Amino acid sequence: MGATYFFRDTQTLKMIPDILIPLILEDEDHKSNKNINIWSAGCANGAEPYTLAILLKEILDEEIFSRIRIYATDIDPNNRFENIIKKGSYPQDALQKIPEKMFLNNFIKDTDIQGNYLISEEIREHIIYIWHNLLSLKPIIERPFDIILCKNVLLHFTEQQSTDIINMFYHSLSYRGFFITEQTQKLPVSSHEQFEQFISNARIYKKITVNFKGV
Ligand SMILES: C[S@@+](CC[C@H](N)C(=O)[O-])C[C@H]1O[C@@H](n2cnc3c(N)ncnc32)[C@H](O)[C@@H]1O
Repeated sequence: MGATYFFRDTQTLKMIPDILIPLILEDEDHKSNKNINIWSAGCANGAEPYTLAILLKEILDEEIFSRIRIYATDIDPNNRFENIIKKGSYPQDALQKIPEKMFLNNFIKDTDIQGNYLISEEIREHIIYIWHNLLSLKPIIERPFDIILCKNVLLHFTEQQSTDIINMFYHSLSYRGFFITEQTQKLPVSSHEQFEQFISNARIYKKITVNFKGV
């Protein structure tokens, strides 16, 4: 477990700044300068949250980008991901799929490790790594998330475990929140009352709220 790479499923990730964030910003709460909280659950070595941050920086206004907080969590079985993510140092091979302009704008040579590149501070400061076991079913922060991504993780769990985790995501999302998973992942039947598919060609689901505040 743990295989990941930069610019994986870019088509879905790009929908976050192109479609979801403009919708989130229509919400009264977000018209002020409130943070936009995103959770990348099962982030492995950070390629997914960093790819997302690069795309967000590329597409969003500077002011909106400054409000983005991406919480990246993993069970990290070999205790490797925290150091990698905090330093933001990756071998060149892992970065091949990044379009050249975005690579040049966001990476510099890592002078400590030959062949590695460091992601810029401007991107790194948007990523908050926290160790977390999804099976604990505990949310990671008190504040609600606007978007939760859990891609290529749920396939390792039983249907009941996935249902319980998705239920925890449901309660961790704001009342207009979105849940995103990988193309091949189907939502368990018992989660159908909590989420509706929002975009037909991507696994992007919108929280169904029971009342105004979604509780
Ligand atoms: C294949 S990687 C997916 C990485 C990234 N989301 C992507 O799509 O490229 C699966 C990740 O899920 C993590 N994982 C597995 N079980 C977990 C659990 N109980 N809690 C949190 N993370 C877990 C693994 O450590 C691994 O890093």
